[in-house]
Amino acid sequence: MSVSTAVVITLLCLCSLYSTFGQDCPSRKEIQGTLKQVQKLLSAHEASYTQSLRNLKKKINLLQSSAAKQTTRATNTTCPKLDAPVNGRKLGRSQNVGHEVHLLCDPGYELVGAESRVCQESLTWSGQQPTCRDINECASSPCMNGGTCADEVNQFSCVCAKGWAGATCQSPVPTFFVTMTNTSAATSPAAAATLPGATNGPFVRPSRCTIVQGTTHCTCEPGYTISGRDSNTCTDIDECELFHNGQAGRLCLHACVNTAGGYRCSCPVGYDVTRDGRSCKDIDECATRQNNCTKDQTCINTYGGYQCVRVDCPKIPNATYVKTSPMRCERNPCPVDNKACSQTPNSFSYHYLSVVSNLSAPRVMFRVSALRPMGDTLRFSLLGGRQVRRHFTVQRSDRLTGQLMLVSPVQGPATLEAEVEMSELEDRMQLGRYITKVTMFVSQYEF
Ligand SMILES: *[C@@H]1O[C@H](CO)[C@@H](O)[C@H](O)[C@H]1NC(C)=O
Ligand SMILES: *[C@@H]1O[C@H](CO)[C@@H](O)[C@H](O)[C@H]1NC(C)=O
Ligand SMILES: *[C@@H]1O[C@H](CO)[C@@H](O)[C@H](O)[C@H]1NC(C)=O
Ligand SMILES: *[C@@H]1O[C@H](CO)[C@@H](O)[C@H](O)[C@H]1NC(C)=O
Ligand SMILES: *[C@@H]1O[C@H](CO)[C@@H](O)[C@H](O)[C@H]1NC(C)=O
Repeated sequence: MSVSTAVVITLLCLCSLYSTFGQDCPSRKEIQGTLKQVQKLLSAHEASYTQSLRNLKKKINLLQSSAAKQTTRATNTTCPKLDAPVNGRKLGRSQNVGHEVHLLCDPGYELVGAESRVCQESLTWSGQQPTCRDINECASSPCMNGGTCADEVNQFSCVCAKGWAGATCQSPVPTFFVTMTNTSAATSPAAAATLPGATNGPFVRPSRCTIVQGTTHCTCEPGYTISGRDSNTCTDIDECELFHNGQAGRLCLHACVNTAGGYRCSCPVGYDVTRDGRSCKDIDECATRQNNCTKDQTCINTYGGYQCVRVDCPKIPNATYVKTSPMRCERNPCPVDNKACSQTPNSFSYHYLSVVSNLSAPRVMFRVSALRPMGDTLRFSLLGGRQVRRHFTVQRSDRLTGQLMLVSPVQGPATLEAEVEMSELEDRMQLGRYITKVTMFVSQYEF
């Protein structure tokens, strides 16, 4: 191409030179002939140029597709499927390089080997596959009073020595409790040993036995379990103990009390057991007159208790305050020209909040808003030192509202106080200050 361009340019130059210097120009025919030749040359060049372009495109396409193939091969970097150990589980499904799977065992089994394996660059898993070994629950010799332990998956059972019963043979079996109610004759030496007039202790009951084709089948009332070598005694199941760390969750939110044949939940002082019997609900001492707050005090119900509070207006030099409601003090009008007085807060409001321990944070605890704002600017701020700032912060939620935020959970029992100041300004001149004192009673328990 560059060749033909050079030719055309040379020709034109020549011609212009000729004309400039008034020398003989080649004849018209000659020029036309030359131009035709150049045209031919040009189209030949164009053809070969487009051909080589096409070839180049083809090459590029080929390169691209082979590169793509290589990248798909490169991304297919997965390790072979990894199985969970027998009696165990696998957490994590990715088999890609760099990914990790965790291996754990079912309850009653313990992991022997690596807890996690990583898919390595070599497309193999790091380490060795762990195994799950049955935990020998008998290892700690849980059966007391000469009982023999039998290991089972995830549990053990005790075969108790005579005179002992319970899951760990912990309770003595008073033989005189044993009486038989024979639906069809099932006499035993134990029955013969029954003491006349002896009452059945509530935690030990006779079993009910039936003989079917020469075999004795004994059953217990609900809440009791067969104990004793000859199946003639039923002992109370300690549900509290049994479900202490059970998978079904704790039986009771607070405390569990085992009873004969059952259990019940109990709550701390200041709480009642809820209707479902499991959890605890606060007793409102203020509503039920279970409080001893005096007439000039206000009763504040808290979780698990109550508080008697009394608002006394603050004593500040140069200003006097008057109580305008049980929870509010307002400044008396200032004498004219008393600058010190007009700088003092216009009002103090008191608020009491009852919250449960370990309340999640951040959360809005309280909002302060201007009812009829004057001036051009409202400013909200948190008063108090570092102690207060550890738990609270003040933010603006809209033009007229500031909010007190709890920034970190608080463990009760505790009482926290925070003061929020709202100030009104006009041209940076303070028009008024309003203080809101918030007292938070944090309970001991999380319910
Ligand atoms: C990627 O690996 C998986 C499993 O090893 C295999 O089934 C698949 O065919 C591979 N794909 C390619 C494009 O090689
Ligand atoms: C209990 O068993 C004895 C001895 O087999 C039998 O005589 C008695 O009738 C049975 N009592 C009842 C209430 O079934
Ligand atoms: C209310 O009773 C509690 C104990 O029941 C006592 O500690 C407290 O001082 C009493 N408060 C008043 C105001 O009498
Ligand atoms: C403010 O009160 C103090 C002491 O009570 C007094 O000395 C001072 O003069 C007062 N200031 C004004 C501006 O009234
Ligand atoms: C507080 O609550 C968090 C989340 O609900 C919980 O994880 C934590 O154990 C609790 N702390 C206490 C002391 O109860």
